[in-house]
Amino acid sequence: MKKTVLLNVILGMLLLSFVTIACQNQVIEEAEPEHIVAVKGLAESMYYMQVYSHKLLLAVNHENLELADFYHHELEHIAEDIIDFIPEYGGQPIGELTKSMLMPILDDFEDAVEAEEVNWDEIRNRARLIIRSCNACHDATGYAYIKMPEETDMNPFLQVFEPID
Ligand code: HEC
Repeated sequence: MKKTVLLNVILGMLLLSFVTIACQNQVIEEAEPEHIVAVKGLAESMYYMQVYSHKLLLAVNHENLELADFYHHELEHIAEDIIDFIPEYGGQPIGELTKSMLMPILDDFEDAVEAEEVNWDEIRNRARLIIRSCNACHDATGYAYIKMPEETDMNPFLQVFEPID
């Protein structure tokens, strides 16, 4: 008799944890595979944002407008996916914060890149502001220890950042 009760308790706990896991994944499962956050979740999407921000800084250092624009769009895609698919994470309003803290800064960068008269000081400045905004959100969400430098000339990638012509 006691064994049956114990077995029922264990089965109940197992069922509960399956339900919890299923609920946690629900938001992500609704997404199409082309949405990076659907496949990767938040931490890995952040990793991609870090790589693309790094490459964006390197492209800006080399005054490579096309490449800087390319990485800006990659960042924008991930940010949009986070807004659409991760409204909340660890009790923090991640979607809303991405919308209010990061998106306007990415839009400003885009304006600078698409301006008729290219002003590299302005573009450099707005690139730094992107990183500052990443760090500010880490501050706001209790991850201040994840901090990126606003400038770098370190190229660990097998990639040329100078304009190709
Ligand atoms: C909405 C707030 C927010 C914004 C905006 C944000 N982050 Fe994050 N970031 C987080 C949170 C929360 C975590 C912790 C995620 C976890 O616990 O899995 C994180 C984790 C990370 C990590 C650790 C994961 C790793 O692979 O090392 C990196 C790097 C990172 N973010 C980079 C960035 C970059 C680059 C940007 C800007 C382009 C950015 N983040 C913008 C909230 C934010």
